Amino acid sequence: MTAELIDGKAAAQRLRARVGDLATRFAEDAGRKPGLAVVLVGEDPASSVYVRSKGKATVAANMESFEHRLPADTDQADLIALVDRLNADPAVDGILVQLPLPAGLDADAVLTRIDPDKDVDGFHPVNAGRLATGLNGFVPCTPYGCLLLLRERLGDLSGLNAVVIGRSNIVGKPMAALLTAENCTVTIAHSRTRNLPHHLAHADIVVAAVGRAKFVQGDWVKPGATVIDVGINRTDDGLVGDVDFESAASVAGAITPVPGGVGPMTIACLLRNTLVAAHRRAGVALDADAI
Ligand code: GUN
Repeated sequence: MTAELIDGKAAAQRLRARVGDLATRFAEDAGRKPGLAVVLVGEDPASSVYVRSKGKATVAANMESFEHRLPADTDQADLIALVDRLNADPAVDGILVQLPLPAGLDADAVLTRIDPDKDVDGFHPVNAGRLATGLNGFVPCTPYGCLLLLRERLGDLSGLNAVVIGRSNIVGKPMAALLTAENCTVTIAHSRTRNLPHHLAHADIVVAAVGRAKFVQGDWVKPGATVIDVGINRTDDGLVGDVDFESAASVAGAITPVPGGVGPMTIACLLRNTLVAAHRRAGVALDADAI
């Protein structure tokens, strides 16, 4: 292996510590802690684990955690009514409705009901539009975490060639917008892309978010490239990413492991977005460079 490991766990711990300090300062200025409301409908085991760890991380960062657990047979109107109450609640700065929702509920209708200025997931079309047009909004947590790891490793990203593999609204599209804003030359590849190795041969940065285990092969990667693996695939070999780690790590300059790479950054960025939401809503200045 020649690649340096990008330690997302350590980066996430540093970010969470900074956010925690700034949350304490916010509470002194505003007379209340930043508040994050998380809504879980049903009892999907993986979602339950995520929601519990989000709650713990929120409290550990000196913020208020509001957990709302609703039964799987909750109807659309009741869920929308809860979102309306959270939108109106002054103690709530951020709202996250855990996905996926049980069958029969309309996730798009729920997500677009969230006040865009409390949309710390960055999933509302208003925030997607703000990101696309360079306005201040909320950026989805996973691509934002990837960007922080890239900046930490590479510094200025200007002029670099980046290939984003995957075009989801949650990762691929916002990732491409973020890299474009950093002055990268961005290619978005996806399941219909012809000759992916041809595109990767020129890529200084690869972000893999396709949801296919060990899909990206080491001999596709440009020597010295920085490889960010967003994939979390459960296989007989355990948890693996979208990149064939063994072969890619012998070519890349730096690579994120799975687990321990991008994953831990996601919650840290959720806390960061909640901190930013609290400052904006309270009209308290925040030095964005401090986080
Ligand atoms: N389910 C899995 N990851 C996420 C996330 O980042 N946000 C929400 N709302 N649901 C998820």
